[in-house]
Amino acid sequence: MPDDFQNPHPLEPDVSKSLLPQSCQLVIFGAAGDLSWRKLLPAVYNLNIDGVLPTHFAVVGFGLPAEGHLSSDPDEYIRGRAKDGITRFSRQPLDESHWADFARALFFVPGSFNDARAYAQLKAKMEAVDQQFGIPGSRVYYLAVPPTLVGTCVEHLKTAGLIADPQELRSFTRVIVEKPIGRDLDSARDIMRVVGACFAESQTYRIDHYLGKETVQNLLVLRFANSIFEPLWNQKYIDHVQITVAEEEGLAQYDPKTGEMIATRAGYYEGVGALRDMVQNHLLQVLCLVAMEPPWSLKPDVVRDAKVGVLNCLRRMTPAEVEKNVVRAQYIEGDIQGRRVPGYRKEVRESFEVMKKPLPPESVHSTTETFVALKLFIDNWRWADVPFYLRTGKRMPKRASEVAIQFKDVPPVLFNAQPEVPLDPVVLSLRVQPEEGLAMRIASKLPGPKVHIYPVKMEFNYSSSFGGTSPEAYERLILDVMAGDATLFMRRDGVEAAWQFVMPILEHWERMHVRDLPEYQCGTWGPVEADRIIVPDGRRWRTL
Ligand code: BG6
Repeated sequence: MPDDFQNPHPLEPDVSKSLLPQSCQLVIFGAAGDLSWRKLLPAVYNLNIDGVLPTHFAVVGFGLPAEGHLSSDPDEYIRGRAKDGITRFSRQPLDESHWADFARALFFVPGSFNDARAYAQLKAKMEAVDQQFGIPGSRVYYLAVPPTLVGTCVEHLKTAGLIADPQELRSFTRVIVEKPIGRDLDSARDIMRVVGACFAESQTYRIDHYLGKETVQNLLVLRFANSIFEPLWNQKYIDHVQITVAEEEGLAQYDPKTGEMIATRAGYYEGVGALRDMVQNHLLQVLCLVAMEPPWSLKPDVVRDAKVGVLNCLRRMTPAEVEKNVVRAQYIEGDIQGRRVPGYRKEVRESFEVMKKPLPPESVHSTTETFVALKLFIDNWRWADVPFYLRTGKRMPKRASEVAIQFKDVPPVLFNAQPEVPLDPVVLSLRVQPEEGLAMRIASKLPGPKVHIYPVKMEFNYSSSFGGTSPEAYERLILDVMAGDATLFMRRDGVEAAWQFVMPILEHWERMHVRDLPEYQCGTWGPVEADRIIVPDGRRWRTL
């Protein structure tokens, strides 16, 4: 961080810390799974290094490791798994002295989520850990489990007497529910009803980790802490918006040396697909922050009201509009950065072999989409007829996510008087990841006697302006839950409204019964079909 950098206007950065409890036990359901390995345990480790965890703190993992992976000492199993995840994925490298401190507060209970006896063992372990670490019963349950298991977990927690009353003053119990919540509107409602029967709304945190990303949070600051943007932020001045979330990763991960599959998300992703996995939550949440009306405070319900306001105005698509405005596709074998990677269907087959599970018949010829592009409209005064183009895909050339706001052309006079060489429009692009920052492309005069206009970029880069690396989204969000701050979490009506928008697309796809999807090679920016929703409008997808 530059020496002279000061933060004269902290935007409640220390809210979490100031409200952080003295003690808490984090209980991770699905601790043997992929999310815990790649994100959650590394996030908690980083919070430990940064010294921001409650003074009395411990993690208890719960779940069933893959066959043959559990060692005789369950605590050693999770410690090994955590160390591996931290070594591979942690923001800050593994440091042996911190590791020892972290590992001594890491425990594991092996068990199935629908086995009442396992909950009795979990309870005994939690009580022993409470004793050992001086934690007076405060708990955060992190349900890193598939949506179908959420109801089972919370009902067992309730039966086992592991949920304290929300009015309890000496301790708290909170639950974090991972996305996607359900696989359609009805199942989402069912899940939220069951969770609601076990936990009060004030105890429930529906997480969407995109909301914890610095750059996503910065959207609000950009829009509402700078006077120049808000007057232009509407259909009068904005031509269109593009939101892209491109991932290099696919379904499975391979050891770079041996080429062996070391992890796969097939058990979750196959049959779910990009629309449910990314669009219904992450992309629509980002869209909300781009499009919402100014909230009058950062109080959780004020922000969430403004976001739901956007979701409620999303134009629902008819089947004909789904055909016209939505494209889905699946990756096939190709090269990413000089590395050959298999197609999706092959990965699914191999994943099930690795997981030692029978391949479901519908997966033999899987039609799960790994790419979606769509055009949508927000039918309100601010955004009437402004197209929002969204796209997301796996196995693209690189990891790159951005929000790009393209402003309208200047009138066709003066510098823009030649239709055959139109001026490049002004574009404000917010890079969500990597190289977090923003850039504004504007027209400038090339130095010289003639008037030649050239697009130039004004850049802001987080790391060069503020130094260091931004905390991972999960770090911020786990702290927020412990602090009881729900601002960055989704409210029940928000989840439902997002499903309501997505349902006509899912229903149409289901009715179509296609045997094959459009394809794109690994390492490309998606199928050619994606152009048909943007090119006829006289626009094109941005190159990232
Ligand atoms: C998760 C999805 O929510 O987000 C994954 O389930 C996806 O499929 C991931 O890979 C992307 O998150 P990030 O933070 O790496 O962009």
